[in-house]
Amino acid sequence: MAIKEIPKVTTHVLQEMKLRGEKIAMLTAYDYSIAKILDHTKIDVILVGDSASNVMAGHKTTIPITLNEMIYHASSVVRAVSRALVVVDLPFGTYQGNSKEALSSAIRIMKEAGADSVKLEGGKEILESVDRILSAGIPVMGHLGLTPQSIHKFGTYVVRATQKDEAERLVEDAHLLEKAGCFAIVLEKIPAKLAARVSKEIKIPIIGIGAGSSVDGQVLVLHDMLGITMEFSPRFLRRYHNLYEEIKGSVSSYIKDVKSLDFPNEREQY
Ligand code: KIV
Repeated sequence: MAIKEIPKVTTHVLQEMKLRGEKIAMLTAYDYSIAKILDHTKIDVILVGDSASNVMAGHKTTIPITLNEMIYHASSVVRAVSRALVVVDLPFGTYQGNSKEALSSAIRIMKEAGADSVKLEGGKEILESVDRILSAGIPVMGHLGLTPQSIHKFGTYVVRATQKDEAERLVEDAHLLEKAGCFAIVLEKIPAKLAARVSKEIKIPIIGIGAGSSVDGQVLVLHDMLGITMEFSPRFLRRYHNLYEEIKGSVSSYIKDVKSLDFPNEREQY
């Protein structure tokens, strides 16, 4: 099948999309084969999320995944992608509280994986790291609201910024990230009204996950929206498939065919 050449999505393309009111579609990928399928659609952004820690490695949180593991996932994705913008999460412990380490982590992601940009969780408290990474010419996406790398501080995955003081801090952080030069911000699991306000006040694209429809784009974890992972069912998740059941069904048919000597048949051997 011939795949039509589509120009590469850049951070400037995303900015233009916001200006003309075209929504940005973003999904996660962690490996070559899935990233290739995504890139053959019109997906705008592929996120190599640290959710790989849960989805790929089976950890309970995103905290254990290492920089080397993220580079492995990201380099696999980058080899498959020619159109979408590839954003890679800096994992926990590689940028917080030490801007020099943050820059060297981001440089490794760019050089060893060939990513287009990096994503960091947090606002004011990580601004020095954001500034230093940006000063090296590396595009940075911010991430505010529910920031899973801080789960042990929050204690739960409930909706964030429902109270006025936290909401105002989030708006302030969004302004700081924009002023620093971030090209976009993810807002995770916050009230839709608050996300709409941020999207209106901030000139860079705002990508929501559980942040309502009045933002500039949406992101979901691919394994969740395809129904491969079934243990996670937040209200914001729309499931487009039940691949868990489909894969189970196919594997059961295969087992039956092997046991009954139906597979391989005459045409499936040499
Ligand atoms: O790691 C991830 O998949 C993410 C998205 C949920 C935004 O950060």
